[in-house]
Amino acid sequence: MSIGVAVIGAGMAGRGHAAAYRAATSLYGSDLPEVKLISIGDVNAQFGLAAAKRFGFERHDSDWRAIADDPNIHAVSVVVANSLHREIVEGLLAAGKHVLCEKPLSDTLEDARSMVAAANNSKTVARIGLTFLRNPAIAAIQKIISSGQLGKVLHFTGNYWADYSCDPMSPISWRYKGGMGTGALADVGSHISYVAEFITGQTFKSVSGARFVTSITERPIPSGAVQGHSGATVSDKMDSVENDDYAGFIADFGGTAGAIQVSRVAAGHPTSLEFEVYCEKGSARFTQARNGEFELLLNDDPYGQRGFRTVQVGPSHPYIAGGLPVDAPGVGVGQNDQFFFQNRAFLQEVAGLAETAELPYCANFEDGLHNMEIIEAVIQSGLKSGASATVPAANPTYLKKVK
Ligand SMILES: NC(=O)c1ccc[n+]([C@@H]2O[C@H](COP(=O)([O-])OP(=O)(O)OC[C@H]3O[C@@H](n4cnc5c(N)ncnc54)[C@H](O)[C@@H]3O)[C@@H](O)[C@H]2O)c1
Repeated sequence: MSIGVAVIGAGMAGRGHAAAYRAATSLYGSDLPEVKLISIGDVNAQFGLAAAKRFGFERHDSDWRAIADDPNIHAVSVVVANSLHREIVEGLLAAGKHVLCEKPLSDTLEDARSMVAAANNSKTVARIGLTFLRNPAIAAIQKIISSGQLGKVLHFTGNYWADYSCDPMSPISWRYKGGMGTGALADVGSHISYVAEFITGQTFKSVSGARFVTSITERPIPSGAVQGHSGATVSDKMDSVENDDYAGFIADFGGTAGAIQVSRVAAGHPTSLEFEVYCEKGSARFTQARNGEFELLLNDDPYGQRGFRTVQVGPSHPYIAGGLPVDAPGVGVGQNDQFFFQNRAFLQEVAGLAETAELPYCANFEDGLHNMEIIEAVIQSGLKSGASATVPAANPTYLKKVK
């Protein structure tokens, strides 16, 4: 048996998925069946061809339906603009493919709910890529907190600072379209939201104090195709930015509270998910700028010596042992590795291999819908001048323990 894979979308994150499928069999032992890299689907044939060549896929397709129709393809990543997720994901599920969809699940709650229904009606694996669950330092902090070593969580502060929109001349793209909440909040706020739940072990009950800011209200129309955050020459015509450059809100986890801020115009932070979590017996903090380490403070340390210690991630922490070719302490780890661990976990489930504590299965579409309901509550709070907005109850898979 072999698993034929394809990636739809050859952009920034699509290349992450392509590289991850290529690496998948080289991680965590040799029990995964052969993985055949079959197609990269991109509406832009030049992008599809370049990615297929670069990552060793057999071909590229300009229409995702060619991938849906190919009986040799079993598992597909959907890595295109959020508004395109529903049509492609539902088409793939109807064709009997296993699907790994990028976050956020979609751009509207209506589409996200339809995708959940499609996943529930399908016999194949439908998962969402909540990549930062695979960060070794973040998973290490989660493990320490869930073991009870730090006692009860008291409060949490999280930011996702990015600077990809700082340049007012960087071109307009799908990222700038949609109403307030579909900008920085949906793009990077989606990540810090599930990380907040993963770390505190609690779900959002409500949010309040939401505030959105659009700092750069128009951007140039590109004169070519755009991928990622830049890369195209621009015309002298401008188009309006419809969504948030900055979003901030207060989170209520039902007993524990916290503040969350996200931005795509935070100069000096190329991409930095960061948080601090304060607990009864100590605290912990992480910043993506220093991905290979985290900081821990234990109240038990002798008076006069108490302070944050820096812990370098290594084989005693999640994902490293067996997950990196050189799985030694201090070798470093990055966002690309998160895709490797994530896509390996997806293929593990597709292949029918058991879920393990070391490599939990990916989050499901209901988790993705819950993530969007958090975003929707922040949008509603913003519309009501910061009044509290309820987040529907949820039981995300990433809060359950794998035995
Ligand atoms: N998990 C993460 O860390 C992470 C990081 C970045 C982006 N993302 C997510 O990945 C998705 C894609 O983001 P990106 O930054 O890679 O976007 P991108 O703009 O860089 O790339 C999108 C690609 O899709 C192609 N495309 C457009 N319409 C298409 C269609 N109908 N069929 C096939 N291809 C089509 C474009 O030509 C482009 O190459 C988004 O949902 C985003 O939120 C996740």
